[in-house]
Parts: sequence; structure tokens; C-alpha cells
Amino acid sequence: METLQPKKGTYALEDYTKARESFDWKDVEKVFTWSKTGNVNAAYEAIDRHVKEGRGQKTALHYSDASRDETYTYSELCDLTNKASHMFRDLGVDKGDRVFIFMPRSPELYVALLGAIKVGAVVGPLFEAFMQDAVKARLEDSEATMIITTPDLASRIPHQELPSLKTIMLVGGSEEIGGINTVFYETELEKHPSDDTAIEWVDKEDGLILHYTSGSTGKPKGVYHVHYAMLQHYQTAKWVLDLQDNDVYWCTADPGWVTGTSYGIFGPWLNGATNVVRGGRFSPDDWYHTIEKYQVTVWYSAPTAFRMLMAAPKDILSKYDLSSLRHILSVGEPLNPEVVRWGWEVFHHRIHDTWWMTETGGMLICNYLSEPVKPGSMGKPFPGVHAAIIDDFGNELPPNEMGNLAVQTGWPSQMRKIWKNDAKFEEYFAIPGWYISGDTAYRDEDGYFWFQGRNDDVIMTAGERVGPFEIESKLVEHPAVAEAGVIGKPDEIRGHIIKAFISLRDGYDYSEELKKEIQTFIKTELAAHAVPREIEFKEKLPKTRSGKIMRRVLKAWELDEPTGDLSTMDD
Ligand code: WT7
Repeated sequence: METLQPKKGTYALEDYTKARESFDWKDVEKVFTWSKTGNVNAAYEAIDRHVKEGRGQKTALHYSDASRDETYTYSELCDLTNKASHMFRDLGVDKGDRVFIFMPRSPELYVALLGAIKVGAVVGPLFEAFMQDAVKARLEDSEATMIITTPDLASRIPHQELPSLKTIMLVGGSEEIGGINTVFYETELEKHPSDDTAIEWVDKEDGLILHYTSGSTGKPKGVYHVHYAMLQHYQTAKWVLDLQDNDVYWCTADPGWVTGTSYGIFGPWLNGATNVVRGGRFSPDDWYHTIEKYQVTVWYSAPTAFRMLMAAPKDILSKYDLSSLRHILSVGEPLNPEVVRWGWEVFHHRIHDTWWMTETGGMLICNYLSEPVKPGSMGKPFPGVHAAIIDDFGNELPPNEMGNLAVQTGWPSQMRKIWKNDAKFEEYFAIPGWYISGDTAYRDEDGYFWFQGRNDDVIMTAGERVGPFEIESKLVEHPAVAEAGVIGKPDEIRGHIIKAFISLRDGYDYSEELKKEIQTFIKTELAAHAVPREIEFKEKLPKTRSGKIMRRVLKAWELDEPTGDLSTMDD
């Protein structure tokens, strides 16, 4: 497909060309109150600053789900998050404490998250689909002292096994949980004033948020970001999401994932935008209805969602007026040219890809509205970001050669550590001066980056990142399973699906029921998105002499490709 020329950008192409030549993150600091007062807090900059600067009456949040429909101005969010900050202070939350939030999207989630940030806590958002083991692993590793949840989800928090956890805060509940200090959000919040005196001024390098994400080995990693990341959130939301004063912006991601915080909270609110949050599950009708209802202008979603919308009956589009849309963006997986073509056809807009990771905290490679898009490419590095394709020794490769996608260290939203795991952290920076992403890509002669794949075993399924190791470990806890190897299998809608190869213990035989039972086991103990949609039973799994399951051999089997070097394989 040919290059798609831009229709109309808020900023001219020359603005970006200029920005690429001379960009200094220091200049971005000037936007924020702390450049004048010296007082740093990202939640204050995201909410209170707009009130102080006379934008308090602007709509900050449209929230709706099947049973609620509410709108909040910046002033209202300011008061609520201030009340929450007093509440957290009274409950003994100190700067640096990990406060986790485990609940479905709701205004309370956003208020609690920002309120906790206001007192200097490091917040840890957990996706509501996590089951007990996944919740426990994350609370244990982070040594969280408080978790905010709902009565429904509270049963998945094994507080007796979590010595650091002191308080469970229930949203929408009134029954105490035995054996731990239980507090009730609504009752507590009501007691507190809405002035801003409980705000903790922090250092810009102090902790803001902890997002757990998967690698190919070991437990989930706590990716730690600091308040200074707000520079990246602000500037990328301004230039790439192109957020303007009268935009209505919808990011479809849940705050349990980094997109849902960097661009579902910080990016839009730091820019003073009107933010839409839609609770509940995906359905094409519901999503198109949401765009129509709020007259959404800027929409940030994921390839897997676009592909599901593509697969919906064609006539669905004629039921909704989607003409408010002016800018559509995507993240999380390769954005297929086919999807871009579909977007052009049905919305008459280009879908703009963006590339980044939990670890990068914000967008690094992207296309601007005023730049030509090459369908299938992720775009070019953001001003002030130096991305390159390097070999394993750190040498930059010439155009069109495939290699490691790496970024020169030092952008504002770069992770500052992996929680309690320095060794893991250092792996990303093994080549001095570079952050190594784990993705392979090439760059063409025009400077556009093209994604080729992951060079580890991490699986991106329906836009979510899962580590094979966590699933394999859980699978072998099932009494029937002797060994398990998990890979991603290419899938038209989901990008990849999770496929497990399993060998059984003596006395167990393959059956459809057993397969279903194992799937249910993963669903109830780990998470629905971690369930292997396909399970193949094998007599034996390919292993190295040291006993490691060789996932690349499983992958080769699956794709009917050559298995490559098998010299380390056991018998
Ligand atoms: C991995 C990071 C950052 C928000 C969502 C995912 C893949 C991300 C793209 C893209 C192709 C992409 C990479 C990356 N990925 N964006 N535009 N094209 N692949 O964050 O869960 O940390 O996953 O997602 O493989 O390494 P994450």
C-alpha cells in the first residue's frame, strides 16, 4: 500500500521537523507548576493545575457503564482526589508506600489512584481479571501495605499470606473482612476536607507507579516509574494524540495495563483534555455507541480491538454516527496494513501506530498527524528520542537490516528500576548507553521503523502481554500435568493465541474433558487472558540437557518450520 498522506494536522509538518532537530525536555518542564514553585506531584499537575489556571469547569471525565452515567469537571476531580489524599494520610499511608488498586474501571478507581499519588504513594494498578495467584505474586513482591478493591474481588486477596498488607479498603461494601483492618471507601472519604494541604511534594525521581509485566522467564516484573515521567506523558499526548482544547478523547485500555495509565490518565489530564472512560466489556455495538454518545474525536485503541471490529457484521457501521472522530491511534502489537486500509475505508482516517512498552513508560516511536504514514510501519522516533537498530555488540546497523530495536537511554518516562530485581533491570541495559527492547525491527531509508517480532518468548495476545513461564508453572500444578511448554501461535484476530504443549503424568489419559478442566484451572487460578486456547498433548516435550523446555522447537513444530540447532537437546 502506498504512503498515506495526512489530511490535516494541528501542527504543521515543519513543527515536527524543527522539533526533531532541536528538542530539549527541559523546555517541557516549563509547562508545569513545579517549574515555578519547585513543588512536584504528577497528580497535582494533572488535575489541580487546571483548576488553578481557570479551567476548573471543564469536563475532565465522562464515565459510564451498564448502570452508571456520570460526568466530572476538573474542579470536582480536584476536590475528590484531595479528599482521598487526606483519607490516605489519616490511614497512615506514607510517601513511597505501595498502594494497590484492584477493581473494575469506575470513577472511584481514578479518584483513589490519583489520591494515593497525591500523598506520594507508589500506586500499583491490577487488572480485575487477575485471580488469586496472580494477585498474591504481585502484592508479595511489592510488599504493598494497602489494597483498594471491591467486595467481589476481595476474596482473591489471600491477606493471611501477605504479612506486609495492613489494610483492605472496600469500595461499595459494608462488611468487615476477618483478620485484617477493613475500611470503607465511601465512609472514609466523606470524613475528609477537600483542601490541598495533604498533598506530598516529592522529588521528580520519586516513585509514581508500579506496573507488573511479564518476561519470558521468572515471575512478573515490577516496572517502576517516577513522577518525572509526566514530561513524556504530557508531550506525547500533546503531539501524537494531538489533544486540543475541544477534543473528547477515549483510550480503551484498562489502567491495569500501562496504556490505561500513561494515556488513560496522565497524558490526557496533564493536557487538560476531556477523557472518556467506558466500563464493562468489549462489544462492537457498545464501542461504536460510546464514540457516538460522547462525540469522541481522538481514539486510542489496539490492533486486536480493530480486528474484532473489522470482523463484526458490516451493517453495524450504518447504525452509528462516527463522524466526530478525527484521529485514531493504535498500540500493543503490529498494526497490519490490512487494518489501516480498513480504517481508511470505514472511518476515512489513517490509524496511527505507536510503539512503546511498559518499561518505556510512554511512546517512543510514532507517526504524527501531519506526517505521511507508511502502513505496516510503526513510524519514527519522537523528538528527543534516539532509537536505532543495533547488533548484539551495540553497533548501529544500516537501513533495511534487521536487528535489535534499541533506544539511547535517558528519556523522561524510562523505567527507573525493576522492583527488587536489579539483575533483571540490568539485562535491559547490558550494552552501555542503550535500552534493549527485546523486539527486532529494521529501519528504512526514510527513517521509518518496521516491527519484525520479539526475540524472546513473550506472547502478545489480544494486546496483552503474557509470559509463558507463569502459565507453565501453573499448568504443572495441575495433578494431571507432568510438563508444559507454552508458545504464542499466530492468530488472525488476536495476533497470537496461547498454545500449551503438555505431557501427562502416569495414570492420566488425554480427553476433551481433561483439556477443559485444565483450561478452567488456569482461568480460575491465574487469569482468563492467560488460558491456553489450544492444548496439545505430547508423550514427551523437547528439553535441553539441563531440563529447560525448548519453546523454539515447539514453535517450529507448530509452524512447520525447521527446528534449527538441536545440539543442546536431551536424547
Ligand atoms: C511489547 C510491549 C505499551 C503499551 C502496550 C504494550 C509489542 C507494542 C507495538 C507496535 C508492534 C508492538 C512489542 C513490545 N508492541 N507496540 N506498535 N507494533 N508491536 O505494552 O505489554 O509492555 O508490551 O508490545 O513486542 O515489546 P507491553
